[in-house]
Amino acid sequence: MIVGIIGSGGREHAICKKVKESSKTDKIFCIPGNAGTNNIAENIDIKIDDFKSIKNFCLKSKIELLIVGPEQPLVDGIVDYFQDTNINIFGPNKLASKLEGSKIFTKELCKKYDIPTANFNIFENLKTTELSLKNFKYPLVIKADGLAAGKGVYICNNYDEGLIAAREIFNGKFGKAKNLLIEEFLDGEEMSYFVISDGKSYQFIGSAQDHKRVGEGDKGKNTGGMGCYSPSRLLSTKLDEKINNKIIIPTLNAIKEMGSEYIGFLYVGLMIKNDNPYLVEFNVRMGDPECQTILPLLKNDLCEIFFNCCIGKLSEKKIRLNDEKSICIVVCSKGYPENYKKNSEISQLNKLSLKNNEYIFHAGTKLKDNKILNSGGRVLNFVAVSNNLKKSRESLIKLIDRLDWEDGFFRKDIAHKVIDT
Ligand code: AMP
Ligand code: GLY
Repeated sequence: MIVGIIGSGGREHAICKKVKESSKTDKIFCIPGNAGTNNIAENIDIKIDDFKSIKNFCLKSKIELLIVGPEQPLVDGIVDYFQDTNINIFGPNKLASKLEGSKIFTKELCKKYDIPTANFNIFENLKTTELSLKNFKYPLVIKADGLAAGKGVYICNNYDEGLIAAREIFNGKFGKAKNLLIEEFLDGEEMSYFVISDGKSYQFIGSAQDHKRVGEGDKGKNTGGMGCYSPSRLLSTKLDEKINNKIIIPTLNAIKEMGSEYIGFLYVGLMIKNDNPYLVEFNVRMGDPECQTILPLLKNDLCEIFFNCCIGKLSEKKIRLNDEKSICIVVCSKGYPENYKKNSEISQLNKLSLKNNEYIFHAGTKLKDNKILNSGGRVLNFVAVSNNLKKSRESLIKLIDRLDWEDGFFRKDIAHKVIDT
């Protein structure tokens, strides 16, 4: 089978590696890919918002299976755009992608189907928001409605912080804002839970705990994710049942009731409080770096899973995960998530030798004159699978130290809740 993968992050490199291992895969094109995917697939330099060029390329190259990694093209309707072709495209359609594309859509769905989530109010202008902010209890959470690349969520400790958030959102910091969301602050521990669906049935495909803050001890600015481990320490049979019965099944049924179907990964972002799950957010794709962490645990043929999802036959094979533990440390460009220097050479990368259970997935890298340079904020993902997270972490830290990249940094405390307490 000829496979296309849209995206250029660590998530897409991890998907690419797993798809490459399948006996069903003949060739992979990554659109646009990175320096890591370049070693196992052919990178094609087309922008991911240029649907027309992507479609023309896929038809010309006889791509039979197209996997969409990131959320933006899904929310913009790339799946609907391919409906007039025979190409099997893996990902949710435009309506189902609203689960990530509009926080208000999701909150209203939660209200209608009694899905546990933080209490919320929707505001349509700055004036009424300002007035209400005086009466709320703090902390509270203010969110822009649409996609905001991991930004657009403010945890506000007092009225003044609330005011700044509301003003920034209504002044268009995250694009034109018709409304915003004010939510009750949920005090608990976060967990990411992943399923994959073919529109008829779905299966569990791993859990993880992500570290979103830039600094050790989970301090500092929010990022796309500095590292994570899998499975989450919080998951139990009882909690699993609640997540499925109270959140996932009602949501997938709601999409069906709207006359649509959910095909793709569903990332269920949860806050766990007293062993009860509350929905924080849905994402309509795999997490990054959760994907890099979980896929090395997957025993199945990923190409077959994707294809079966596209033809409504996911239930034919049970998804199985290795029962070891996986940890991922993200190496970032110094300055991330703010400004950072680009085009700095990572000269030692190809000299590192990995053990059998270790993997490096590229994210913000590019190849120029045979040199690997950084091109993004999150640059490399170092992953290890074993029965001992502490040893895996030590081994990865040594490996990253050998990388000796002076323009990079990373957190040494990933998985501290399970390792260090
Ligand atoms: P979101 O983009 O909605 O996932 O929000 C980003 C991050 O903000 C989450 O991963 C949480 O850490 C935090 N967050 C969002 N909503 C809440 C809430 N209602 N209570 C506490 N923390 C929240
Ligand atoms: N790691 C968080 C995300 O992928 O949204």
